[in-house]
Amino acid sequence: MRIVQMSDVHVGSGLFRPDLLEATIQETNALKPDLVAVVGDLTMEGYRWEFEEAKGYLDRLECENVVYAMGNHDAKNVGYRHFEEFFGIREKSVEISVPEGIAKVVSLDSTKPDLDEGEVGREHYGWLDSEFRGWDQGPRILMIHHHILAVPGTGRDVNNLRDAGDVMAILRELKIDMVLSGHRHVPYVWSISGVRIVHSGTVSTMRVRGVMPPSYNVIEFDQDSVEITLQEPGKGAEGRQPLASFSRSPITTSKFYPDYNNFVVYDKLPFLKG
Ligand SMILES: [Fe+2]
Ligand SMILES: [Fe+2]
Repeated sequence: MRIVQMSDVHVGSGLFRPDLLEATIQETNALKPDLVAVVGDLTMEGYRWEFEEAKGYLDRLECENVVYAMGNHDAKNVGYRHFEEFFGIREKSVEISVPEGIAKVVSLDSTKPDLDEGEVGREHYGWLDSEFRGWDQGPRILMIHHHILAVPGTGRDVNNLRDAGDVMAILRELKIDMVLSGHRHVPYVWSISGVRIVHSGTVSTMRVRGVMPPSYNVIEFDQDSVEITLQEPGKGAEGRQPLASFSRSPITTSKFYPDYNNFVVYDKLPFLKG
């Protein structure tokens, strides 16, 4: 399957660049992806007009499966109300027919109103488990705005996912193929315990860090391999470079012992009851 991953659109920012967003939409339509994952921070302050303007652009995406996640900026000023009005419910699970079968895509709201840091929260663990456990029909993909693992080249990290350890243990156990995230405005990929954590940069702003330009990711996922490419909007082949490449089945030498895991994954019991 082909995924276009973009995030940190930030309509309303003085550093927003409509030309970059327009180029991205045009290029995405030409790529005909199976999924467009927009991983949060559509706006700057969560104001209604920002969502309205963002929707005006993003509605031009022709892909049948455009899935949105909420970002911390979208949750400012009670912006989650507008998010729901314009982009639908904040958390959802969709199943998409792809050449490899049926992909399960779960979008999770990791925001807390008016805070920059995120949290999945124990109340979500059971839902995550019930969506992904035993899913063997195709790729298992989670969308979440905040970063589970620190992203290099982003300066001091004070707004990560507060329950990152617990979430990571759950993702490992559920054998999630890929996590799509944004938030740090730097594209980067980690692969850990069989889970690929893929960050997109900011797609349409100059809220960049260091020399990293605005960009989005194109992910090619097939039976044998996963290829992740960074693309600068409007730059064609010149603005394209590989970010990471994996074999489809993760190679991991890690082994986790159930007895030890019982100490670590202490929230396991509530979702085993159901
Ligand atoms: Fe952002
Ligand atoms: Fe963010």
